[in-house]
Amino acid sequence: MIDTEELMSIAEQAKDNLGLPDVLPGLYDPIRYTLGAGGKRLRLQLCLACCEACGVDPEEAVNQAWGIEMFHNFTLLHDDVMDRADTRRGRPTVHKKWNEATAILSGDTMLTLATQLIARCPDDHLRALLDLFNSTAIKIYEGQQMDMDFEQRTDVSIDEYLEMIRLKTAVLLSAACEAGAIMAHATDATRRALSRWAENIGMAFQLQDDYLDTFGNAETFGKTPGGDILNDKKTWLLITALDEAPDLIVPLLGGERSQAKIAAVKAIYEALKLPARIHELMDRYMTLASEALDEANISPTDRSWFTGLSASLSNRQS
Ligand code: IPE
Ligand code: IPE
Ligand code: MG
Ligand code: MG
Ligand code: MG
Repeated sequence: MIDTEELMSIAEQAKDNLGLPDVLPGLYDPIRYTLGAGGKRLRLQLCLACCEACGVDPEEAVNQAWGIEMFHNFTLLHDDVMDRADTRRGRPTVHKKWNEATAILSGDTMLTLATQLIARCPDDHLRALLDLFNSTAIKIYEGQQMDMDFEQRTDVSIDEYLEMIRLKTAVLLSAACEAGAIMAHATDATRRALSRWAENIGMAFQLQDDYLDTFGNAETFGKTPGGDILNDKKTWLLITALDEAPDLIVPLLGGERSQAKIAAVKAIYEALKLPARIHELMDRYMTLASEALDEANISPTDRSWFTGLSASLSNRQS
């Protein structure tokens, strides 16, 4: 039976073996700082849980789980520079605590460490894992570029937005599951089903992230709310408001990065009842996820771990 605490303890025990040497603190301390701040470790859990659900001891996939989690943390260092974000996990971001050069270079190092961790596997899995990892990484960079391009546009469609979040966020959750399934020699059908489950969860996950960026509580969320509004990020909230109340919202775009702008945009979202409506959209992805899980050959008790996780992510505040 999959037990989250057990998965986290397997991961914790492997943490001293991630390849972080006791030299060059300017390079490695920011990495320790980032990993030490925790985070939910969602991608790591997904990789280990999928390995176990496919019948293999999750310890077998611990290097791949850390590789994916390290990669995720690398994307955050660069993302926080790109998004001009000052806080993450309740602490100053790396580029604020150190500087941008540090966020770039420690981030690069994490990317390479991630590849090394993924490649710590039997030879018969190496090709499949590296192909998966590299193609996923490229998709994430594409999604991140779309996210940045969209800041300057006011005509982004919902379909373009959905493709952007699929690329920047959902595909990594999906790859975490696939890596676990590969390590467990799962059948193609189960691997694809878990991957599809995670991709749909990932869509809902980014919708909730966008919701929390405006409506979340700074303390539980760990990031400073309002960043998406200040950056004119084309979230589902902003795209819908641009469509339904353009005369109110367009004059607020661009210009000053102020608390007044955040409050004004938030009030429009509330008037349009967008908080309830974004959760309806999330529910649709959760339903698709649940349907995908039906195609995975996993035990009912293991299935309940996956459905429990989906439910907890729908209500998450952090
Ligand atoms: C943040 O991911 C980046 C997004 C894809 C929204 P998480 O919300 O999983 O961040 P941590 O790892 O738990 O801090
Ligand atoms: C981040 O999206 C996606 C990646 C890091 C690849 P966001 O920019 O919304 O993530 P947060 O809100 O900063 O965590
Ligand atoms: Mg960001
Ligand atoms: Mg971003
Ligand atoms: Mg966000």
